[in-house]
Amino acid sequence: MAQQAPQDFRSFLAAIRATGDLITIDEQVDWDQELAGIGRLSCERNGPAFQFNNVKDYAPQWRVATNPIATWRRMAVAFGLPADTPVPKLYETYAARESNPIPPVVVKDGPCKEVVIAHDKVDLFDLPVPMVHEGDGGRYVGTWDLVVSKDARSNWVNWGMYRFMIHNERLITGFPRPTSHLGKMLLDGYVPNKRPMPIAIAMGCDPLSHLAATATFRIGGNEADLAGGLRERPVELVKCETSDLQVPASAEVVIEAEVYPDRINQEGPYGEYPGYRSGEIGNALCARVTAITHRRDPIWTLDTTGFMDSSATTTSITGAIAIQRRLEANGVPVKAVYVPPEGAVHLAIVSVRSGGTEVARKIVDVLTVRRALISKIIVVDEDVDVFNLPAVLHAFATKCHPARGIHVTNYVGRANTLTPAYTQEERVTRTGASVAFDSTWPPEWPADATPVRATLDSMYSPEVQRRVLERWRSLGLQ
Ligand SMILES: Cc1cc2nc3c(=O)[nH]c(=O)nc-3n(C[C@H](O)[C@H](O)[C@H](O)COP(=O)(O)O)c2cc1C
Repeated sequence: MAQQAPQDFRSFLAAIRATGDLITIDEQVDWDQELAGIGRLSCERNGPAFQFNNVKDYAPQWRVATNPIATWRRMAVAFGLPADTPVPKLYETYAARESNPIPPVVVKDGPCKEVVIAHDKVDLFDLPVPMVHEGDGGRYVGTWDLVVSKDARSNWVNWGMYRFMIHNERLITGFPRPTSHLGKMLLDGYVPNKRPMPIAIAMGCDPLSHLAATATFRIGGNEADLAGGLRERPVELVKCETSDLQVPASAEVVIEAEVYPDRINQEGPYGEYPGYRSGEIGNALCARVTAITHRRDPIWTLDTTGFMDSSATTTSITGAIAIQRRLEANGVPVKAVYVPPEGAVHLAIVSVRSGGTEVARKIVDVLTVRRALISKIIVVDEDVDVFNLPAVLHAFATKCHPARGIHVTNYVGRANTLTPAYTQEERVTRTGASVAFDSTWPPEWPADATPVRATLDSMYSPEVQRRVLERWRSLGLQ
């Protein structure tokens, strides 16, 4: 029976502990790379989440947890489903709940206010922020956060997940892309009027609120409503101490800050989600922390960014459903979409009811017209299960014509600058390309000229199939 999705971070940790997907370490661990190294290895081995109860240089009241929903098992528990729920069912659940948003409710107080540290009392080094990789530009807060901002000219409130590097005790520098909603709000609404922009970085909320923050939601749409839908209960919000922004009341830690409209500072490099350190030190937004509020015994969270990190699972779901909806809206005969975590948000697999050159070209055009995050798309016929990677690889290897099956779209100004294959110059000018590998049969081929797959379900009579399956089952085979 489906259970209720955990409504705060602690009940989520209790739930994944119960399913064997959380390990607690009581021995001392160094915040300088060692802690994140353990989380990193776990991502690479599809291992558990960790809770560290003894972080070097920090009081025992502070605990640190890694990669809350970086595996499908933990994602399933976050949805209130059994840990072994198959991935297609998780996709289905997300799509159904996303269609039923529930607005948040405002409460007067919450656990995130148990300790309030404001203005010149703030020292970011009081937080047990781990150094994630050797060679990072600094210690990063908000590798797994929920950043709240408000449009200067309307009531639009945005939640996004964006990282911030500690610059000194009170300053952070951040890397929301200019095309992100926070980036747009800042550049369009605050910078032109030289107004500081308040933000609030909430850490350790319930996992589905963080999942909602990673989703590319429509401009003007409120991810708090999406989070309510995913949780099937409204999110409780509480007002910040130094601005009118509202944050999830159950958060473990909240960092309130003001982004300077007229000042930038250096940020990076960082070991990025595609699985490489590909960026350089760059100019980034700069914010002054105005307050830190937290629970009395807070749990800090981080994503140990790199191959198979939290973005691999979260964007697999949110990205694939967004792609499916966009293709449907543009009249593509799409059946299913999968963004495999192994592809680091650079690869999508799309199955279609009818394929061929025209459809493949349309898919790559529709998916790159605004932001071009995905650079490789494999298009398969509807009888290929997009979640079955061996079947997809077989279709790609055998059905994609090495010349006619490849459809490239070049663009300038909207490429994903974190694509490791791009040169430094391409990154600066945001020049890139996306390609569709058409692995479908051309619809114009007559049926009797289309190769037949040599599998039990295609090259055997229904009667033989029935007898084979009957014998298979009688032998107790799966
Ligand atoms: C773990 C993780 C870290 C992320 N860090 C950043 C980041 O630093 N900057 C950024 O622009 N996007 C980052 N993203 C992607 C954004 O969260 C995502 O694009 C989201 O849709 C942004 O919200 P928006 O569409 O409201 O701008 C990250 C995603 C994940 C899962």
